[in-house]
Amino acid sequence: MSDASLPPASGAAGASAPLDGRPLGRRSFYFWFATLVGALTGTLTGLPLLRYLFNSKRQTTDWITLGPVDSFTVGEMRLATFADPLPRPCDNGAAEASVFVRREEPGQDGAAQFRVLAIACPHQGCDVVWSDESGLFDCPCHGGVFNADGNRLSGPPPRGLFACIWRTRQQQLEIRAPFFSPAFHAAATDEARSE
Ligand code: FES
Repeated sequence: MSDASLPPASGAAGASAPLDGRPLGRRSFYFWFATLVGALTGTLTGLPLLRYLFNSKRQTTDWITLGPVDSFTVGEMRLATFADPLPRPCDNGAAEASVFVRREEPGQDGAAQFRVLAIACPHQGCDVVWSDESGLFDCPCHGGVFNADGNRLSGPPPRGLFACIWRTRQQQLEIRAPFFSPAFHAAATDEARSE
């Protein structure tokens, strides 16, 4: 048997498997080993983030029914409560969420119009309270005040109440969820505009 038919001889001590015909040195071996370990670690630590991003995208497509369109009276501010689409594990599936709904005068085409506002104060997330008497929303935590359209009037909140994306479908009022954080709100708004 000639030498050409024999497997390549192993190199000097410390060399590893050959690449493109040349033995892989000890330093190259450690370099590639470290790269592989780094890639695996990065993948594993990045999985929660990927899961979060995937879930965020999926959740923006959820629509929640608040009730028949005709159950809302024009000009009346009403608290609408529904099953929380983002319950925490400690809620045991029994969590509820709420939004404020005011039916507006119909549009020029006669279609029902609504203003749906998140209940969470944009300052630190406390639930705002509506007062029929003053026609204002008050935040009990730090004194934020908003008008009936959700615009900020005073206090530490950096902006007005978040408006929810809504639609009417089969004579039902629906809102898109989630709607609590600015990031979700911006994403949901962009999606609704592109539909
Ligand atoms: S949480 Fe509403 S004013 Fe601070």
